[in-house]
Amino acid sequence: MRHGELAVLLSALVTASQDFVGKQLGEALKALRPRGYEETDREAFLVSQVSLARQRRQLLESPDTPRAAPSFLCPAPGAGVPEGGVYETEIEKWHFQRHQMWAEDQDLCHRSFGLWTRGGSLSCPLRYAVIGNFVGLAPGDLVLDIGSGCGHMGAWFHDWFGARTIGLDFQPAAVAFAQKYVVPVAPTQFCWMDVASQLGDWLPNRSVKLATAISVLQYLRSDAERWEAGPEPWPSSGVRNVSRTPCQKLSRTRKTQCRVAWEMFRATALGGYTWVAHNSVYQGKWDPKLTWGKRYWNCCFHEELKRQEIRISEVSELDIFMSGLTWDPTYSLILRRLA
Ligand SMILES: C[S@@+](CC[C@H](N)C(=O)[O-])C[C@H]1O[C@@H](n2cnc3c(N)ncnc32)[C@H](O)[C@@H]1O
Repeated sequence: MRHGELAVLLSALVTASQDFVGKQLGEALKALRPRGYEETDREAFLVSQVSLARQRRQLLESPDTPRAAPSFLCPAPGAGVPEGGVYETEIEKWHFQRHQMWAEDQDLCHRSFGLWTRGGSLSCPLRYAVIGNFVGLAPGDLVLDIGSGCGHMGAWFHDWFGARTIGLDFQPAAVAFAQKYVVPVAPTQFCWMDVASQLGDWLPNRSVKLATAISVLQYLRSDAERWEAGPEPWPSSGVRNVSRTPCQKLSRTRKTQCRVAWEMFRATALGGYTWVAHNSVYQGKWDPKLTWGKRYWNCCFHEELKRQEIRISEVSELDIFMSGLTWDPTYSLILRRLA
């Protein structure tokens, strides 16, 4: 056998055994999966994720690393937040008051990791740690956090990655908490505003490495007159047979999940990511793929897709965030800016 042929044969064997190893690992992972994930698994995983991030931060940080807090020109405090209890629709009132109860009556900023039913659990830092590691967040990077709640993430992202964060939220008590406890310890900025109506030109194009919305966009409408799955978009104004905005015009709709995701992506720098997590919660009743249609996200970014500026992926959160098996099968929308 000539030398060249042997090399070809050997490389074929190596490839074959790699396939074999890959298959074995794949089988092992499948076997592990039905066991699901417990809180102790998540604890161990979080420790590992955070320690990885901190090691990377130490290696990458230099005297030139930007350290100043972000100073975006946010809209006036409280912009778009309904004054005096006057809401455009009943469902917007319901979502606002629910978060208000968590922020004020239950004081979940002091008592947990954030504004979630029964308080933010360990899954809150875990989600952010996974995302930061996934996108390769580096010291000095800017992050935009939509629906930042109590602002914990701004402190974590600085501690773990050396990143700087601007957070936006419509709950005044949560933003006040972030300003009091997070701003003094991490380069952060927090703005009190409604993200559905107030993301606009003040947020410069391509200015952040990462834009996140973790369990936030599902509270917004999916289309001009569409909220939840059901015979009508209850509990809005009771309009029946509402029309559906055509695919090509979705990104121009007002106050929708698409529009907010679109603005987040507009603010994402080349090579950066927009990450919208916790979609399809509550059996999917707020998922625009159900309430508008399967092509919702592709339609939302159809122009960017046509210009080859974006890569879109929808990822099950079961394994990446180690969800419990009885939890809703949620998914993350991950957008990468290619051009
Ligand atoms: C379930 S909490 C998640 C908080 C945080 N992102 C986390 O992962 O822990 C949802 C957050 O979104 C905020 N939010 C919901 N709708 C909003 C809107 N229209 N404008 C601004 N903030 C909003 C709530 O006040 C709350 O802090």
